[in-house]
Amino acid sequence: MKKVGIIGGGAMGSGIAQVFAQSGHAVVLYDTNQDALDRSKQNLAKTFEKLVAKEKYTAEKAQEIQNNIEYAADLNAFASCDLIIEAIIENLEIKKTVFKNVEDIVSENCILASNTSSLSIASIASACAKPERVIGIHFFNPAPLMALVEIIPAVQTREGLAEEIKALIQSVGKLPVITKDTPGFIVNRVARPFYSEAIRLLEEGVADAETIDYAMTSVGGFRMGPFELMDFIGHDVNYRVTESIFESFFYDPRFKPSFSQKRLFEAGFYGRKSGRGFYNYAEGAEKKAP
Ligand code: NAI
Repeated sequence: MKKVGIIGGGAMGSGIAQVFAQSGHAVVLYDTNQDALDRSKQNLAKTFEKLVAKEKYTAEKAQEIQNNIEYAADLNAFASCDLIIEAIIENLEIKKTVFKNVEDIVSENCILASNTSSLSIASIASACAKPERVIGIHFFNPAPLMALVEIIPAVQTREGLAEEIKALIQSVGKLPVITKDTPGFIVNRVARPFYSEAIRLLEEGVADAETIDYAMTSVGGFRMGPFELMDFIGHDVNYRVTESIFESFFYDPRFKPSFSQKRLFEAGFYGRKSGRGFYNYAEGAEKKAP
């Protein structure tokens, strides 16, 4: 069993930690923010309480899985890991600094992966002394429930690593696909027009957010409408991904971000996690567009 280190205990890092812990891996979850680590641990405990109540796990098994995760505020906890998956803020320079720092701590053979939604794996790898060990492993939100995982070898990634990661991802019950290192990979590229056209419809007054979400879910067959989904992902993440894909495609207007979403992002209206996005999630509020 590989020991897996996760950088970032937010929505994605916590979910990825759960996926590996459930498959029996030892996991080290690291975050610079102690509150994030505490929150992650509490949320996982609540999740397993529900799973035990639904008889998906015995109380003993649930405890054993939670015990597989060590919460660390010190990067040195990664020294004995075989694989590191980074899931911090979607910012290339910060990710590069983190990869450079982590490389000083991990063993020679440790694989370094990023969960980035849109950034160039080649750029992230360029910060490392051994870029051949760097690869993208892109989970979807919520990681414990979403089966798909994109695996993205960079031009520097050593031959065969993508296949090794594919086998590992299959072994934790996920469905991997290997994709080239282009902005947004497969899903986030195809998803851009889903979000941006929905926002354009809203801006043009064609329909309100609830109607568009209703049309896409009840009639269109999508599990979540575009506005619910953006609020769920978080506008800090989703807006940055859109901006990054737009820049990466040399400002191709097909990927142009919207001012409506930019304003939500600037206001700190990130969606569910901040209590307000396109919808209002405040205690007692109707689920209503502001
Ligand atoms: P988040 O904001 O929920 O969590 C990020 C965490 O990283 C926070 O706990 C923060 O304290 C921590 N952090 C920030 N800088 C750090 C550093 N230098 N060292 C250690 N920890 C640090 O973000 P989320 O949603 O988990 O996204 C993380 C990454 O995953 C991003 O690259 C994003 O593009 C990608 N992603 C996000 C998805 C989503 O739907 N939210 C889906 C798939 C990928």
